[in-house]
Amino acid sequence: MSEGFDPRALRSAFGSFATGVTVVTSMGDGAKPLGFTANSFASVSLDPPLLLVCLARTSRNFQAMTTAKGFAVNILAETQEAISNIFARPSEDRFAGIDWAIGPFGSPVLGGAAAWFDCSLHQVVEAGDHVILLGKVEAFENSERSGLGYARGKYFIPALAAKAVSAAAEGHLHLSAIIERRGEILLAGQDVKSLPGCDAEAGDPLTALHGALAELTGLPVSIGFLYSVYEDKTNGRHHVVYRATAEEGEPRNGCFVPLTQAGGQVFESAATAEIINRFVMESSLGHFGVYVGDETSGRVHSIARHA
Ligand SMILES: Cc1cc2nc3c(=O)[nH]c(=O)nc-3n(C[C@H](O)[C@H](O)[C@H](O)COP(=O)(O)O)c2cc1C
Repeated sequence: MSEGFDPRALRSAFGSFATGVTVVTSMGDGAKPLGFTANSFASVSLDPPLLLVCLARTSRNFQAMTTAKGFAVNILAETQEAISNIFARPSEDRFAGIDWAIGPFGSPVLGGAAAWFDCSLHQVVEAGDHVILLGKVEAFENSERSGLGYARGKYFIPALAAKAVSAAAEGHLHLSAIIERRGEILLAGQDVKSLPGCDAEAGDPLTALHGALAELTGLPVSIGFLYSVYEDKTNGRHHVVYRATAEEGEPRNGCFVPLTQAGGQVFESAATAEIINRFVMESSLGHFGVYVGDETSGRVHSIARHA
């Protein structure tokens, strides 16, 4: 019996199934690239090579997607949350500022994706308020990058989540944030500065960080994108740094420092100094990355220029 279900309750129950995140793309009329975020992707068959994705009938791309000669599925990498948001929200041109190219079969493929599959449209199957787009894989590329995760309406980084759970269980995970407000960032400490944060314990690390920042600053704070994940090999501690914003008001602890002066402060560790310096530089360029590594070596992964 399907009548009488509360659609929100059903959607929420479906959302307990953890998935990856994809951006499904195609070429519209006039060679205009189009695409939308989808987590309904599934691999279907190896021989012939088939995959599927479900498309809402309400999609503005419905007509174009169901009549195109093909579509591509781009599996987003763990640093591409910003791209997922761009392709899930209304926009005149979702591809502006995105690194993309035309795939071998003609649909847009995204730079930095964990993998992509450029498909011919094999079949469109009616499925209630969605259709199932079955694609036949004509070409694909697998970068071996880890994929972004999505469960219960939130993004997560599977590799990081596993690490965070074990590090938090051992009391070895530190969470902190670069809190931005109109060209300034909040630094804790007097002569020696640090980023406001807390040690993670059992439970959801973001909830813990949010509570700690609200307590430390006394201001409403929103946590945004992940900025840095690194392990300090000298003491085995893992650090996770997010970007955050604070609302108006005098902070209870620490003070807001203009970005132009932030780099010149004395910091509690070389890693923190490095993070602030990268942030100052990236702010001037308006292009942020996510650092993953240890305290001395690692990689800055590029994310969408819009971030
Ligand atoms: C994580 C996530 C997964 C989504 N999965 C799907 C999906 O599988 N199918 C779908 O039609 N929409 C899905 N959406 C919603 C669309 O991305 C969103 O409605 C988008 O604005 C549609 O754009 P369009 O109308 O331009 O096609 C998802 C959104 C998010 C954030």
